[in-house]
Amino acid sequence: MQAAKKYIYDVKPYVPGKPIEEVKRELGLKSVIKLASNENPYPPSPKVLAAIKKAGASVNRYPDGDCFALRKALAKFLKVGGSQLIFGNGSDEIIILAVKAFVQEGDEVIIAKPSFLIYDIACKLAGARIQSVPLRGFCYDVETIKAKISRRTKIIFIGNPDNPCGTYISAVPLESLIKAADPQTLILIDEAYFEYVRAKDYPDSLALIKKYPNLLVTRTFSKMYGLAGLRVGYGIARPEVIDILNRLREPFNVNAIAQAAAVAALGDQNHYKKLAKNMEEQRQLLYRGLAHAGIGFEASFTNFILIKVTADSSHVAAALLKKGVIVRDMSAWGLHSYIRVTIGTPAENKWFLKTLREVL
Ligand SMILES: Cc1ncc(COP(=O)(O)O)c(C=O)c1O
Repeated sequence: MQAAKKYIYDVKPYVPGKPIEEVKRELGLKSVIKLASNENPYPPSPKVLAAIKKAGASVNRYPDGDCFALRKALAKFLKVGGSQLIFGNGSDEIIILAVKAFVQEGDEVIIAKPSFLIYDIACKLAGARIQSVPLRGFCYDVETIKAKISRRTKIIFIGNPDNPCGTYISAVPLESLIKAADPQTLILIDEAYFEYVRAKDYPDSLALIKKYPNLLVTRTFSKMYGLAGLRVGYGIARPEVIDILNRLREPFNVNAIAQAAAVAALGDQNHYKKLAKNMEEQRQLLYRGLAHAGIGFEASFTNFILIKVTADSSHVAAALLKKGVIVRDMSAWGLHSYIRVTIGTPAENKWFLKTLREVL
């Protein structure tokens, strides 16, 4: 077997959260809850399920490679032009396309540390020189990012809010960062958790796209819309940026069922707004439960919480797993005494709190 491209060996394979069935099988458990992948704990709405069923009847055909109906519905919903949108097999794909399009071997990129792992993986595969900027108090250190910007910087990655920290950059510092960057540098603003953020000073990234040509905003149907298993995300940018990304995109990258489900989800806003409100209440409940037990945590603007377990996080995550609770051990992100926990249903959250107290 010949050697693969040299940069591939620099990448540690992405380890996703364990599936429920695998844990049941391996540990012989009857009841398992998964709070490890920042998914929506509820199934899609009845309207979305009906659309999925209907689309299933035509899967002998290739999907619409241009996502016509979804593009039309989303453009109307966001009040942007259809040519400002690109769809992907999850927003992951849009991030990867942006790296493939703009980053060549030896180019620089700026990534916060810790941050969403896909940025690092995609850039390593492109042979980029990664400028890491450690978080400060679990927030982006905007001034240090500005100091690292050079003419060779091709992309600055902004998870807003980011994973695993759960915090966001507010409008004023974000715009100051955009102004500090060379207009040739792409600012990739990853808003996977956009629908959960309530903060008044959260940036209006679509208004920023009108002002600055070098922005790419990514969002997803995997989180609040609960379609993680179908894989559909999107990018919003000026048509010139979208045109470049489209040249790299596989012709049928978003499957037909995902497209139909996403259109139906967009049309069922009231259902999803209720879910987001419910999640917010559950987050407060978890905060209170953790505080009551004397367990530290970081305030989050997403559907997950970074929890300080004081002990070695890999031991805590393994002990929780044995009791049927799947969470994320944060040691792979360099946070050795933290676990990341997705906010689940009320029953799941109660069970998690009880089990965490037992384990600690
Ligand atoms: C910050 C962030 N960006 C992007 C994604 C990717 O989401 P998807 O590819 O499912 O759209 C995730 C998923 O966990 C995430 O946490």
